Amino acid sequence: MKKRVLVPTMGALHQGHGALIKKAAALGDPIVSIFVNPTQFGPTEDFEKYPRSAERDLEYALKCGAKEVLFPKASEIYPNGPIATEDSGFLGSILEGAHRPGFFNGVVTVVKKLFETIASDIAVFGEKDWQQLILIKDLSKRINGPSIVSVRTVRDENGLALSSRNAYLSDEDYEKSLYVSKALEKVESFWKDGLRDKKELETAGIDFLSKKVSKIDYLEVRPKKLLPELKILNQESRVLTAVWVKGTRLIDNKGLFL
Ligand code: PAJ
Repeated sequence: MKKRVLVPTMGALHQGHGALIKKAAALGDPIVSIFVNPTQFGPTEDFEKYPRSAERDLEYALKCGAKEVLFPKASEIYPNGPIATEDSGFLGSILEGAHRPGFFNGVVTVVKKLFETIASDIAVFGEKDWQQLILIKDLSKRINGPSIVSVRTVRDENGLALSSRNAYLSDEDYEKSLYVSKALEKVESFWKDGLRDKKELETAGIDFLSKKVSKIDYLEVRPKKLLPELKILNQESRVLTAVWVKGTRLIDNKGLFL
C-alpha cells in the first residue's frame, strides 16, 4: 500500500506549495488540504484579505500530482467556534510568536486537528516557515502523528522566497523585498568567514536591511532548533528574519552550516 502523505496549506498555491506536493508524490499519495485557518490570524491581520483561489488551487494541486484535495469547512475543524485550544509553549512565544501573539497556538491547533482527522503516514512542510516546522515536528512526536518531512525554500529568480503574500507587493515594493534574502546571504558570508558571535552576525544583517525596508520585526541567529539561545553559535545555526515592506510582512530564513 502506498503511503498517505499530507500537505497542509492555506491555498493561494504557488511553486513553493508545488514543491511540497511533488515531494509528497515521491513518497506516496499526496493529500493536499486547503484551509485558511482563522485562529492563526490576529485581530488586525489579513484573514479577510488573504488570497483565496479554490478552483485554480485544485487544478494546480492535481497537476503537481495530488491524489486528493480537501477543503475542510471551518465548522468541521472548529465545531465549537474558531478557538485555539493548543498551547505552543515557549518555542511558540519567540521570533514570530513575539510579534504575532497567539499565532502558533492557532497553527498547532489546526495542524493537530488535521493530523487527527486526515489519516496520513507522513506530512510535508516547508523550511520557509522554519519555526513552524520545528514546532510541528515537536507536536507530531508528542501526539504520535505522521513523520515530518521538510522541503527547502523555493525562491523566485531574484531570490525572493515564494509566498502567497507576495501578491500584495507593488513593483516598487518587490524591488525592496529582494533585500531580505540578500541580508541573509550577508550574514551567511560572515558566518563562512568564521564569525560565530550572535550579536555581531545579527548586527551585520540588520545594518544591511535597516534602510532598505520599512521595518524589521526581528533578525536573529539561533541554533537550528532555535533553543537554547546562544551568544556564541558553536553549532549548525539558522538566521531568521521578518520585515515589513510597506504594508506587507515578509519572512525568510537560511541555514548556517558548519
Ligand atoms: P501556507 O502558508 O499555505 O504554507 C503551506 C506549506 O507550504 C507550509 O509548510 C510552508 O512552509 C510551505 N511553503 C510556503 N512557501 C514556501 C516556499 N517558498 N518554499 C517551500 N515551502 C513553502 O504554513 C501554512 O500555510 C499554515 O500555517 C498551515 C501549516 C497550513 C497551518 O494552517
